[in-house]
Amino acid sequence: NMIKIGILGAGRVGEAFLKGLKPLHEEGKIFVAASHRRLERREELGRKYSLKIFSSNDELVQSSDIVIITLKPDQFRALSESMKRKALFKDKTVISVMAGITLDELRDKGGIEKAFRIMPTLGVINQNGLMAMCASSHVEPQDWIDVESILSALGDVIRLEEDKFAAFTALGGSGPAYVALIMESLIDSGVTIGLSRSISKKIVDHLFLSLVGLVEIYEHPIYLREAVMSPNGTTAQGLLCLETAGVKGNIIQAVIKAYQRAREME
Ligand SMILES: NC(=O)c1ccc[n+]([C@@H]2O[C@H](COP(=O)([O-])OP(=O)(O)OC[C@H]3O[C@@H](n4cnc5c(N)ncnc54)[C@H](OP(=O)(O)O)[C@@H]3O)[C@@H](O)[C@H]2O)c1
Repeated sequence: NMIKIGILGAGRVGEAFLKGLKPLHEEGKIFVAASHRRLERREELGRKYSLKIFSSNDELVQSSDIVIITLKPDQFRALSESMKRKALFKDKTVISVMAGITLDELRDKGGIEKAFRIMPTLGVINQNGLMAMCASSHVEPQDWIDVESILSALGDVIRLEEDKFAAFTALGGSGPAYVALIMESLIDSGVTIGLSRSISKKIVDHLFLSLVGLVEIYEHPIYLREAVMSPNGTTAQGLLCLETAGVKGNIIQAVIKAYQRAREME
């Protein structure tokens, strides 16, 4: 009774799922396959992962219990009508990673009743992601358990109401870019005050790697900041500059902007 999982349209995100699920496939816990429209890509994936890659999406769906749709939203919209006509997803559980495609749209356009919608962060590419997940009313408690256990191969899973997905996207989805910008600025600052780029990067890598553990010890970023900030010290001068520039307010504004854009795209 091994669960059969099909990844429909294995592009970048689909490949992350193939890679993350392959160990479970090798342990014989699940069976994983995928589909792609281009021969060259099918050959590439077949070579890299030694899994079955279908040229026909319909055959992939027919031979799967759970279908993970990793197409772009417009690519799905182009296929959905014919898939609905063929009732391809009847009795299938579908996990959609497509941004902006709602559970209602999956049902109305694709005839998909039993659907999970997930929003992964970039961390899924090295099995270190965070995935927000919601589901249609046709999903049974056992489906939640099965799907959560499968997705945990790619990182942590949280249940989130569908109307919070745009907020998750603005913070968790776009977040790596904000943090990367801060990281880049700190590396440049080290170079500006005379450190070599490689030493500066090493220091900044260490700052980011150690931060989550430190925040756990101090229980909140505020207490960590207070612990580092000594009277008349260096940190107080640095923080004064950041506060005068309104860095905190600007970061909040940036996330609000991203959120508004995510809402527009829904
Ligand atoms: N990238 C992210 O960080 C991220 C984060 C969260 C959610 N998402 C969502 O994940 C989805 C996939 O994103 P992605 O970046 O992985 O896109 P992608 O690399 O373009 O993946 C889509 C793949 O599906 C293939 N495809 C298109 N039509 C097909 C068809 N009819 N049959 C079979 N395969 C087909 C495409 O082939 P071609 O190469 O020939 O076009 C492409 O390889 C999107 O819906 C996006 O909203 C992405």
